[in-house]
Amino acid sequence: MPSPSRNGATKAGDWRNYERVLLPPVRDLHRFEVYVKHGGYEALRAVLTHSKKWAPDKVTEAVKASGLRGRGGAGFSTGLKWSFMPPVDPGTPRYIACNGDESEPGTFKDRQLMEYNPHLIFEGILIAARAMQIDATYLYIRGEYVDWIRHMEHELAKLYAEGYVGKRILGTDFSSEIIIHKGAGAYICGEETSLLESVEGKRAYPRIKPPFPAQKGLWGCPTTVNNVETLACAPLIINRGAEWFAGIGAEKHPGPVLYGLSGHVERPGVYEYPTGMLITDLIEEVAGGMRGGKKLKAIVPGGASVPVLRADMIDGVTMDTESLREAGSMMGTAGMLVMDEDTDMVKFLRRVTRFYHHESCGQCTPCREGTGWIENLVTRIDEGEGTLRDLDILMDLCDQMEGRTVCALADAAAWPVRNTIQRFREEFEAKCRQSIYAMA
Ligand SMILES: Cc1cc2nc3c(=O)[nH]c(=O)nc-3n(C[C@H](O)[C@H](O)[C@H](O)COP(=O)(O)O)c2cc1C
Ligand code: SF4
Repeated sequence: MPSPSRNGATKAGDWRNYERVLLPPVRDLHRFEVYVKHGGYEALRAVLTHSKKWAPDKVTEAVKASGLRGRGGAGFSTGLKWSFMPPVDPGTPRYIACNGDESEPGTFKDRQLMEYNPHLIFEGILIAARAMQIDATYLYIRGEYVDWIRHMEHELAKLYAEGYVGKRILGTDFSSEIIIHKGAGAYICGEETSLLESVEGKRAYPRIKPPFPAQKGLWGCPTTVNNVETLACAPLIINRGAEWFAGIGAEKHPGPVLYGLSGHVERPGVYEYPTGMLITDLIEEVAGGMRGGKKLKAIVPGGASVPVLRADMIDGVTMDTESLREAGSMMGTAGMLVMDEDTDMVKFLRRVTRFYHHESCGQCTPCREGTGWIENLVTRIDEGEGTLRDLDILMDLCDQMEGRTVCALADAAAWPVRNTIQRFREEFEAKCRQSIYAMA
């Protein structure tokens, strides 16, 4: 039976009978030969050989019509982003930067895709390359993913040898390169403009926008930045149609999605299902319920930077932008952190603030100083030395950080502070009241 969402609509539909398309249960699918045997690269072949049906702008139109929204966190329309690329200017190279840097706590789904179905990513890149007439794609992978980088390099070499990448792909007049670029384990490298700096061999400082990458990206040339899961959806849209894709999951945020479930659940892991799943279904059925039969206390739906929700706030809430916005949070990367009744929310916030302080690139004062101060204050409260006034100072610091910096890391650092304190205020107040400075 489809589960009713908060507004009564069925969103994920019959998710129990859902057929996986991003991570289908095919043995050794990570190998080129197996991928091809199961229909792999047919979408690319169609796009390159049916030049009328699949002219580049028609590919972009199909992606737009599918309703695909970026899976890297911001949820921007992918087709729209592709259409921002300027007309081809002979002599000016055009690039894709494919973002596989994931490093936000709670987000570990791209790694699963790279490990189990890397050719879906390569095929998606090539389809996007055709649609936007791209000369080269830099596939930026988190350097710690040593094993699958090695494997992807091995498979990419096969693609070059078999004529799927490089000059005159599949004997057509379309040429495009793919280069794997290893990151070095900094969260900020995943931010789209600092990723570009990093590929250019510079320190990963985010750039001020505008200009946006489509106007001035890699080496000042038109560039589109997309997440790996986003691009992996392109072959599915070509093969099965935009309508099929738009019909999966939530109406305004459709498609298959990789949910990363972690924390105090019985079966943490990466699960593929439609968007629009009830949060309660994901926890109770997909992840096997709360570990040890404990009660649910809180969740963070989409990676550490999105606002935390109390257990009493998730009834009927589904995993899509609209429902989560209404509930007071965001979809982010669909990496859900689940916390049980024993979780100390001050300690939770202490961990999160430590991460953001460590990962700030230090370029903007509100972020460089603010992340340090919020970590200090939350640590002070946790160690029994905080005062109620510190809670007001923390809110004030968030005001000083939000929307005042070059990139969104400062916002990502401030939101959990604001929301965790607002939504679990009694816990913070209790620690402050027991503090040795309680009178201040
Ligand atoms: C601090 C920071 C870190 C980010 N890290 C990643 C990341 O690791 N992977 C990713 O795909 N997007 C990341 N993003 C989002 C990217 O800037 C960008 O929006 C995304 O790659 C666009 O792809 P999409 O439209 O396919 O989602 C990050 C953003 C910020 C502000
Ligand atoms: S907000 Fe923080 S991480 Fe982003 S550019 Fe400024 S200092 Fe660097």
